Amino acid sequence: MTEPLVALSDVSVRFGGVAALSGVSLTLGAGEVVAVIGPNGAGKTSLFNAITGFVPLTGGAVRLNGARIDGLMPHEISAKGVRRTFQNGGLFAELSVLENVLAGLHAQVRGNPLSILLGLPGARRAERAAVARARELLDLMGIRHLEGQSAGSLSGGQQRMVEIVRAIATDPPLLLLDEPAVGLAPPVRSQLAAIVKRLAKERGIGVLLIEHAIELVMAVADRIVVLNYGEKIADASPEMVRADKAVLEAYLGHA
Ligand SMILES: Nc1ncnc2c1ncn2[C@@H]1O[C@H](COP(=O)(O)OP(=O)(O)OP(=O)(O)O)[C@@H](O)[C@H]1O
Ligand SMILES: [Mg+2]
Repeated sequence: MTEPLVALSDVSVRFGGVAALSGVSLTLGAGEVVAVIGPNGAGKTSLFNAITGFVPLTGGAVRLNGARIDGLMPHEISAKGVRRTFQNGGLFAELSVLENVLAGLHAQVRGNPLSILLGLPGARRAERAAVARARELLDLMGIRHLEGQSAGSLSGGQQRMVEIVRAIATDPPLLLLDEPAVGLAPPVRSQLAAIVKRLAKERGIGVLLIEHAIELVMAVADRIVVLNYGEKIADASPEMVRADKAVLEAYLGHA
């Protein structure tokens, strides 16, 4: 049996008296899109923080391709190819779109600083390759024409696209998207849905997607995991989840 890309077993996270996650297990395969839904405070962002090392586990384990990653520092987990976008963005507003994407690439490129400083041919080649790669991804998202604009001058939807380009610039095996559709107009949402699908199906990226926009979830998710008060109450196909009584009650109960 091959190992899943990521596997959580019995993961718990506590903040003082609050159980943000209680015994949550789930798996995600390469090329799979799994949506994580649930009412406010259900533990969705805590799940991402647990996977990316931003909060310590109080119990359980997180494995990437079969190897434990819980207990590692966030930058160590990121270096293993676990990339995320944040609920509240995080672009450099004064830098151009292209520069923002290059920043994501350079965080990963192991260039020799001296050869870069001296402008040696190898370093120049690496730089040209990075620019070409950034442009290819901006093309993929349909925002290549914005490459020279400052990130701060873009609309919310355009900024979200740039964040995603930056997150996937290094071809990570695993991408975590925290509410990427917040504040996006419906046509931009559909565009985003199509892109998430392509990243998974064409590039084999495993995607975990936290999202309140249910039509986006239904359009892209292969599987939906539902959290409620830190517990997993459903893990099934979109059709099954839509018909699940416990899920409906979790939402109606909070409405
Ligand atoms: N750093 C923290 N310190 C203390 N409590 C926290 C912390 N992070 C989350 N919590 C608590 O853990 C619970 C789960 O929060 P979390 O942010 O994971 O929920 P969420 O499902 O992402 O909610 P939302 O839909 O509002 O983004 C909440 O009760 C929250 O107040
Ligand atoms: Mg959240």
